[in-house]
Amino acid sequence: MISLETTISNKTFSNCLMNASGVKCMTLEELSNLKNSESGTWITKSCTISPREGNPSPRYVDLQLGSINSMGLPNLGFEFYLDYALKEHKSGNDNLFFSVAGLTLEDNIEMLTQIENSDFQGLVELNLSCPNIPGKPQTGYDFDRTDEVLKQVFSFYTKPLGVKLPPYFDIVHFEMMANILNKYQLRFITCINSIGNALYVEDESVVIKPKGGFGGIGGAYVKPTALANVRMFHKLLKKDISIIGCGGVESGKDVFEHILCGASMVQIGTQLMKDGTKVFSKILTELKEIMKDKNYTTILDFKGKLKEL
Ligand code: DHB
Repeated sequence: MISLETTISNKTFSNCLMNASGVKCMTLEELSNLKNSESGTWITKSCTISPREGNPSPRYVDLQLGSINSMGLPNLGFEFYLDYALKEHKSGNDNLFFSVAGLTLEDNIEMLTQIENSDFQGLVELNLSCPNIPGKPQTGYDFDRTDEVLKQVFSFYTKPLGVKLPPYFDIVHFEMMANILNKYQLRFITCINSIGNALYVEDESVVIKPKGGFGGIGGAYVKPTALANVRMFHKLLKKDISIIGCGGVESGKDVFEHILCGASMVQIGTQLMKDGTKVFSKILTELKEIMKDKNYTTILDFKGKLKEL
C-alpha cells in the first residue's frame, strides 16, 4: 500500500498536494471546490485588510511554458477569509492554510492579532513576496526588513505560521535568508512565489496590462529555480521548518522531484489554473505510479534524498 500522507507542524494531511495561494481560492465557491477536490489541503487567496479589485485586466495570461500574472491582490478582504476559516473550524476542520498579505507591516500585525485571538487553529502562510503591487517592494528581498517583520510577528503570535518567499538566485542570499528564518519558531516556508517582474512579448506587444506588461512568471519556466530554492533551504534550515515546494508542477514527476529536493508538501498554481481541480487526481495517480516503480511506500522514503554526484 502506498501512502502519500505528510505532516507539517502539528497537522497531518492525507496527501502532499494543495493549491498555490492565488489560484482558484478567492471566492466561497472556489474554496468549496478545492475542499471537495482530491488535494490534501488548500489555502485561501492572500488577503489584505480591506477587499480589493486588483489590477486592470488582462492580468493573467497562459503561456506555452507557464503563465504571467499581475493580479494586484484582488481579494474579498480579511474578514471574509477569517469568517470562512472559523466556519471550517466549527465544522471540525482545522487542516487548512490561511494566506495573509498585508500592504504594510502594521496591516499584517493587525490581521495576525485577530487570527491569534480567534478560534482558528489552522496554519497561516504569511506572504512576504507578492511582486505585483506598484510601489511595494517584495519584503523577502529586503533581509533586514524580513528580520524585523518576523521579530514583530513572533513577539505575540503563537499559532503555526510559515512564510511564502520569493525565489533567490545567489548562494549568499540563501544563507542570509536561512540565518534569519532559523532564528524564529517558523513551522514552514513556501518556496517559490512567481519569478517577479518578468516580461513576455508577443506580436510586438506586452501581454498583460498592469505595470507596462511586467508580471510574475509561473509554470515550467520556473521549475529549476523552484527546485534549487527547495533544495537550498532544505540544506540550510533547521529541521523543524518544513518546506512547501511550489513552482512548475504539472505532473507526478514534478512533485516527486520537489519532494526529492526536500519538500514535505507541494503546491500547484499555473497547472491548476489551466486544468481546474481535476489536476490533483491526475498528478496523485502519476506520483503513486512512480513510487510503485521504485518500491517507495511513503513520502519519507525519498524526501530530501536527492542524489549528488
Ligand atoms: C499576487 C501575486 C502574488 O505572487 C502573490 O504572492 C500575492 C498576490 C497578486 O498579484 O494578486
